[in-house]
Amino acid sequence: MNDRLFIFDTTLRDGEQVPGCQLNTVEKIEVAKQLELLGVDVIEAGFPISSPGDFTSVIEISKAVTWPTVCALTRAIEKDIDCANEALRFAKRKRIHTGIGTSDYHIKYKFNSNREDVLAQGVAAVKYAKKYVEDVEFYAEDAGRTENEYLARVVEAVIKAGATVVNIPDTTGYCLPSEYGAKIKYLMDHVDGIDRAVISTHCHNDLGMATANTLSGVLNGARQVEVTINGIGERAGNTSEEEIAMILKCHKLGIETNINTRRIYNVSRLVSSLMNMPVQPNKAIVGRNAFAHSSGIHQDGVLKNVETYEIINPKDVGIDDNSIILTARSGRAALKHRLHVLGIELEEKRLDEVYQNFLKVADKKKDVTDDDILVLAGANRSDAHKIKLDYLQVTSGVGVQSVASLGLNIAGEKFEACASGNGPIDAAVKALKNIIKREMTLKEFTIQAVSKGSDDLGKVHMQVEYKGVSYYGFGANTDIIAASVEAYIDCINNFKD
Ligand code: KIV
Ligand code: ZN
Repeated sequence: MNDRLFIFDTTLRDGEQVPGCQLNTVEKIEVAKQLELLGVDVIEAGFPISSPGDFTSVIEISKAVTWPTVCALTRAIEKDIDCANEALRFAKRKRIHTGIGTSDYHIKYKFNSNREDVLAQGVAAVKYAKKYVEDVEFYAEDAGRTENEYLARVVEAVIKAGATVVNIPDTTGYCLPSEYGAKIKYLMDHVDGIDRAVISTHCHNDLGMATANTLSGVLNGARQVEVTINGIGERAGNTSEEEIAMILKCHKLGIETNINTRRIYNVSRLVSSLMNMPVQPNKAIVGRNAFAHSSGIHQDGVLKNVETYEIINPKDVGIDDNSIILTARSGRAALKHRLHVLGIELEEKRLDEVYQNFLKVADKKKDVTDDDILVLAGANRSDAHKIKLDYLQVTSGVGVQSVASLGLNIAGEKFEACASGNGPIDAAVKALKNIIKREMTLKEFTIQAVSKGSDDLGKVHMQVEYKGVSYYGFGANTDIIAASVEAYIDCINNFKD
């Protein structure tokens, strides 16, 4: 019989720590429900003591899902654990995830402490959490750079204190796959009582080795993996959930998960669209080019026999070539159905708004694809915004200065301005700044086509600095200049004053 590998999804905790990609509680519930359908075993729903938003999200996710265990993160501090327990009160299955840094870097510089005291604090935290819940996971932060002998002592002690799962994070993404695998094996071989707990991997991708390290951990005995959809997470991200699921499906390693791989693509799109975080086109499994064979030799081979160049059937990850394309003649019901297939359920009022935006896009584009629809369904923030773009007109060309005139509606009042600039976007942004006179600096600016074709929706992500703080904004429009101005306005709408 195959061994079971537990999938611990931390998209909504570690994944959501990406600056500018925070979700509100409603969006988190939407993602959590899709993760349940995907078949994950554990959903790490947040770090309740860190903010009221995280606290509420853990409560609401606990109410919204049935089958997966809902997990809340804490430091090895009693008030964190009290707070996590409070937030988990509605969870049908619950887990507290507590822990402390165990590398000498953390012990010396973060805690100004020593190994014995840190070990004692970890044990005390597990015992304290055990008063509330049966299922307690302990993390040894920066285990990747923790000396194995000391790590084994910590793991043994927390298992003795009642930890049901022990997480061995490579917090800095430093380990080599052989090294990380050897670390897990060392623990399997040297920790008394290791069979009473599940060992978990938690790998970061700073050197691009997160998936390899996770797999190496599994091959050496870990039976839980901590992963995120699209590999999102702070810095270079976490281990990508879809990569681990598909590796185990493609290779017969005698290890299986509960993941329904056919739901992978939709969840990936949903997370990307709600977080306004594009998936790189060449991303394994879920990137737009992951199954696109463009060279003549490859196309010829694939046409003769698909297995010549394809190791995964796109249908196995939920990519359906025959997916329905909506047009301007599609009704509200067709849009609702398509959203349902994509895993999105909208209230009637919101559906009406999305449908009106859909009609505008469908007027300009021949076919409206799934990607367009996900962008439309995700881009709802402008409705609540104080500043809105009324109109924009730009003239530009080769050998002439670009000129933009633009109208804004600021809390019901109309403002107009024009400006010339070095290109149409520069002119439009200068016109905007003629109305909103603040010291703000554009720090980052990316434009991405949603699918293909010259009539495509363009997505713009911007980072604007104001009073030393970075704000993130997003715009989507078939007109890329308008999308850029919308993204800039989105940043301004997020300003704290
Ligand atoms: O990377 C890490 O060490 C973590 C822990 C808090 C689990 O995210
Ligand atoms: Zn982490």
